[in-house]
Amino acid sequence: MKKALPILLLFAALLSNKSASGQDMKEKYRPQFHFSPRSNWMNDPNGMVYSNGTYHLFFQYYPEDKVWGPMHWGHATSKDLVSWTEQAIALYPDSLGYIFSGSAVVDTENTSGFGKNGKAPLIAIFTHHNPVLEKQKTGKHEYQSIAYSLDEGKTWTKYSGNPVLPNPGITDFRDPKVSWYAPRKKWVMTLATKDRITFYSSPNLKEWTRESEFGADAGAHGGVWECPDLFPIMHEGKEVWVLIVNINPGGPNKGSAGQYFTGDFDGKNFTPYSKETKWLDFGADNYAAVTFSNTGNRRILMGWMSNWQYANQVPTHPWRSTNTVARELGLKTVEKEIYLTSVPVKELAVLNTTSFSQKSIQVKGETNLTPKAKNATGLFRLDLSMGVPADFSIVLSNKAGNELVVGYDKAANQYFIDRSKSGKIDFEKGFGQKHTAPRLSVDHSMDLTLIADAASVELFADKGLTVMTDIFFPDSPMTDLHIKSVSGIKIENLKYSVLKSALPGK
Ligand code: FRU
Repeated sequence: MKKALPILLLFAALLSNKSASGQDMKEKYRPQFHFSPRSNWMNDPNGMVYSNGTYHLFFQYYPEDKVWGPMHWGHATSKDLVSWTEQAIALYPDSLGYIFSGSAVVDTENTSGFGKNGKAPLIAIFTHHNPVLEKQKTGKHEYQSIAYSLDEGKTWTKYSGNPVLPNPGITDFRDPKVSWYAPRKKWVMTLATKDRITFYSSPNLKEWTRESEFGADAGAHGGVWECPDLFPIMHEGKEVWVLIVNINPGGPNKGSAGQYFTGDFDGKNFTPYSKETKWLDFGADNYAAVTFSNTGNRRILMGWMSNWQYANQVPTHPWRSTNTVARELGLKTVEKEIYLTSVPVKELAVLNTTSFSQKSIQVKGETNLTPKAKNATGLFRLDLSMGVPADFSIVLSNKAGNELVVGYDKAANQYFIDRSKSGKIDFEKGFGQKHTAPRLSVDHSMDLTLIADAASVELFADKGLTVMTDIFFPDSPMTDLHIKSVSGIKIENLKYSVLKSALPGK
């Protein structure tokens, strides 16, 4: 028996290698073009950064179980933001604690001094969460640390001077998002500090100075503030700063969600145009969404496609959780208010396979698109536009009788996603709900894009002004598609594309 063990281990290694290439990722509910780890628990995207032609996605990961546990940073890479390859774990817990969320930057000027032979280091800035101190209730168990990589994120060295930002006595003190503020030639850290954001700055990523805080009297406060982001977007010839603040719970459709503010930032203070919350996504399943660093003029956002309300219970095996598709951000003014828009990145077009387009479709009662849409997997993208908004619903269904309904309610001027009959919903009492979102656009014409994977739907309405992301767990793939309207609608343009899998090896 003793001799058989190494052979068994070898077999196991070979098998797991095969898995890593994606050959076997055929489980029920396995996302085909959204990143999910091959096995075990994932939450927030971390350290998203573009470097030398590769997008890096790190993520909160517990490699030993399908539920949240001592956090590591998992790692995946992509050349196109669509097809992701899981890599070896990047950061492991250590004597200072678990590795909580954070960001990564390319230190082009070698301000940190970690670069070697002209090679700019990748620097990860993350929260160390110390479970021992947490038990002792010191209130000082979270502090910020850094690590660097000189081989494009494959191996990391933690800085010997960690933590670089000790805890001043704030229980929730985490999720540093760092970016270079060129006008003052310094790094700015946007940190979630319980019920507000605190900004710090540094010349070298090692020594940090407190600059200011924002938010105690602004925005939604139904839960703790987490995973912030701060970046400028050019809008109508002016630089507008966007501050994203994730919040859990307290979202518009319960549980976790992302709010944002627009305003000015001078390297020290964030001054909002308004203290009212705006929501990044009205669905239940886009949390801890932040943007990639080092992507030039593009702002690319990705979130964790789950919700703390039920993330530990979702019926997937052997993994839990997936991310949203990558989305490109922009700004749009509607009646003097500036809103963020998010649309799927153009790179997603590589997934399109067979498609059909149709103009001027009159829907009165029900139109069955299934015969034209011919789709065995349920993976699709639907783009449609109409001149005059009226009530309608788009029904995704299957032979098992499950239905996922996406639509618009004219009287309420709301979009909605109803997953109450979408399949498996009993793993958590709040899961099987209908979610609503205001239509923010005041245009007459309406357009929407729906992106469906095996267990998720993402709705981008009015060029990304209203966004909803929901996961669902059908008993079999949602192969059928109907559009319904009691009052009647005219669809000007409709395009339907079957999407293919983006898993490596497929
Ligand atoms: C957000 C969050 C972060 C924290 C991490 C721990 O989902 O709670 O605030 O760093 O998850 O896994």
